[in-house]
Amino acid sequence: MSGPAGTGPADRALLGWGIAGCGWVARDHALPGLLAAGQRVVALHDRSTAAMARMPLGAARHGDVDAFLATPGLDAVYVATPNAAHRELVESAAAAGKAVLCEKPLAADEADAEAMVKACAEAGVLLGTAYDQRWHPAHAALRGLLPQLGTVTAIRIVYCCWLPGDWSPDGFDHDNWRVDPARAGGGAAIDLAPHGLDLAGTLLGEDVVELTALLQRRVHGYSVDDGALLAGRTASGVLVDLHVAYNTPDQLPRRRLEVVGTRGLAVATDTMGQTAGGSLVLHTVEDGSAPVAVPFGAESPFARQFAAFSAAVRSQEPWPYDAQRDLRLHRLLLDALRGRNP
Ligand SMILES: NC(=O)c1ccc[n+]([C@@H]2O[C@H](COP(=O)([O-])OP(=O)(O)OC[C@H]3O[C@@H](n4cnc5c(N)ncnc54)[C@H](O)[C@@H]3O)[C@@H](O)[C@H]2O)c1
Repeated sequence: MSGPAGTGPADRALLGWGIAGCGWVARDHALPGLLAAGQRVVALHDRSTAAMARMPLGAARHGDVDAFLATPGLDAVYVATPNAAHRELVESAAAAGKAVLCEKPLAADEADAEAMVKACAEAGVLLGTAYDQRWHPAHAALRGLLPQLGTVTAIRIVYCCWLPGDWSPDGFDHDNWRVDPARAGGGAAIDLAPHGLDLAGTLLGEDVVELTALLQRRVHGYSVDDGALLAGRTASGVLVDLHVAYNTPDQLPRRRLEVVGTRGLAVATDTMGQTAGGSLVLHTVEDGSAPVAVPFGAESPFARQFAAFSAAVRSQEPWPYDAQRDLRLHRLLLDALRGRNP
């Protein structure tokens, strides 16, 4: 894995995008990101006409997938349906020869994820996973701090929120599929841990290859986990631990990423999420415990993600994250959640 591709005007590539699944993340984060990246959105698809109507732009709206995929000028599809509904759309888009950027987790289970990766490989279309946090400017800055940390020994992640059974991210009447094991594939762990696992690999340049998990159902009373601790190790021996949860009130500090080494500690606070912002500080052995604030840009992670993916589709930049690698990480997580890893 290499670092994020450049996203300046010189390497901007223009695609015609379609959005399949017009809910919270598509409307509030992906669409603004696409527009900020200078992309054209030519078509929308959702099984809910109300969801499509809430998308604030003048693109074609199709409840029918084939009509959506036949939209003139459509080059790439962003898939943002509930996890178990990714496969059908990714396979259809691949069969139509469209590049696909699919939301995380790749799928609700392993078989769907494998089929999606296979379908895109066979069709010769680029498949990316929409791990937006790898594009956060603070995380790019954090990568640059690694040489000052000495030998990196561990990454410690807290990524938690409050998600009751009747949760709605945007005040609309929501079908909370996140607590339905069939549609989500699990609870807090499958929803939130993929970001941290991806980030660890992105930051270190090597992925977690061993992973164990402890799941919790403690607060909300639904049938999926509302909290989890995961412990992993990379091939070279960096330890990665994650606390992810749906049972931490949003009013509490709940988003933190620490990279610790033999000479320093980098701490990113409130950077894990959908938007730019948060803070990054560096503690070094030389400076004692006094943290030094590290500056970073304000560009939307979604905008950077769409710019980089579009440049990759236009072959201006390589897409640095192989779909097989994302599939390996997905399998590793699912194995850990099933308790198959020691
Ligand atoms: N990258 C991130 O930070 C991030 C953040 C939130 C959600 N996500 C991911 O994005 C996806 C969507 O999450 P969300 O919170 O936006 O959900 P949501 O419930 O707000 O929206 C999902 C939309 O998909 C539509 N839909 C459901 N089944 C469909 C089908 N079979 N065909 C067509 N449309 C269908 C629904 O009508 C709804 O409009 C999930 O995979 C989730 O994990 C990623």
